[in-house]
Amino acid sequence: MKVFIVGSGGREHAIAWKVAQSEKVDKIYCAPGNAGISEYAECVNIQAMEFEKLVNFAKEKEIDLTIIGMDDPLVGGVVDAFEKEGLRVFGPRKNAAILEGSKAFSKDLMKKYQIPTAAYQTFEEAEEALKYLNTVNFPIVLKADGLALGKGVLICNNLEEAKNGVKSIMLDKQFGAAGNQMVIEEFLVGREVSVLSFVDGNTIKIMTSAQDHKRAKDGDKGFNTGGMGTFSPSPFYTKEIDEFCKKYIYQATVDAMKAEGRSFQGIIFFGLILTEKGPKVLEYNARFGDPEAQVVLPRMKNDIIEVMEACIDGTLDNIELEFEDNAAVCVILASDGYPEHYEKGFPIDGLENFKEKEGYYVFHAGTKLAEEKILTNGGRVLGVTAKGKDLKTARKNAYQATEWIDFKNKYMRTDIGKAIEEA
Ligand code: AMP
Ligand code: GLY
Repeated sequence: MKVFIVGSGGREHAIAWKVAQSEKVDKIYCAPGNAGISEYAECVNIQAMEFEKLVNFAKEKEIDLTIIGMDDPLVGGVVDAFEKEGLRVFGPRKNAAILEGSKAFSKDLMKKYQIPTAAYQTFEEAEEALKYLNTVNFPIVLKADGLALGKGVLICNNLEEAKNGVKSIMLDKQFGAAGNQMVIEEFLVGREVSVLSFVDGNTIKIMTSAQDHKRAKDGDKGFNTGGMGTFSPSPFYTKEIDEFCKKYIYQATVDAMKAEGRSFQGIIFFGLILTEKGPKVLEYNARFGDPEAQVVLPRMKNDIIEVMEACIDGTLDNIELEFEDNAAVCVILASDGYPEHYEKGFPIDGLENFKEKEGYYVFHAGTKLAEEKILTNGGRVLGVTAKGKDLKTARKNAYQATEWIDFKNKYMRTDIGKAIEEA
């Protein structure tokens, strides 16, 4: 069959790599893709928000299945655009992708269906939000309602910081229209875990756990980024926690969406925090995590096409997800200065070192091909993933593999997965 992937990051590279292993697949296209993805897929120059062009391309090439990797097109309704033309597509419709697209929606859903989350209030007027700040304890968390490239969350330590935060979100529109509404919520303390799942509207199947490192610098310092590295599984995600989440969070979310007339088909990514009072949901995403996909997919044994088709057909209860009994660590190689100012366009050396090395992967995030040379083309440039029999070994292998790659202004955190040594 012919598969079409929409997106251009490390996540889509990991998806393309996994799709390429399916015996059902003869041909892969990707829009817009990147230099790494072009090893498995024919990349086409259509942007993820150009719905009409994407749909026309899928019709013209007689694509059997389109997979949407990114949040923006999902929240914007790309799945509805494909379905309207009778095309098969993996991902939630617009009315379900709102689970990620609006924090006010997801908080209200959790409250209504008693899914554990931080206490909160939503605001449509800056004045009301500013007034409310006089009644809260610090630190406090401010969230722009809509999508903001993972950057719309501000943790404020005092009243002055919080007031400035509300003004920048709601009045100065630092995150654009995402700040038309905002959520102010209780600050929670605990370890974070990312749990991804496949959902067919009724049934939910949980993948192995992972943990992201969102801050730019070692020791969780510096700005929030899209994610600087991941490991999987998380040793903090114990059997007891898994049982609790299965009972109170996972199926409850799927059922709540169904009850609201917003049946969810695709990936639900649960951003959990393990507090003293039990696991709570920090956020939902409606797609694979980036870089969570880069550690979860290499450990997945199933044919991903079979699982995705079961989500579309409502037959996921027939599928048993299986993961290797090992571990994986992904270290992001970024351009120094990310997520603020950085330079790009530098040649990348050493990519060939990953060829035919079992258990080692280099996923491209921001790269481009120019005159036969692969150049840096973004803040997050590459994700270097390695597997190992346990997390410690995977971590050692991943850091060793980061040395095979060289480019000007190469930057990485040196403590990805270090927390596992304390576990
Ligand atoms: P989100 O996009 O909602 O996951 O938020 C981004 C990051 O902000 C999370 O991964 C957490 O590190 C942090 N965060 C969000 N909400 C809270 C909260 N209620 N308490 C503490 N940290 C939070
Ligand atoms: N790594 C976090 C995310 O994909 O949102």
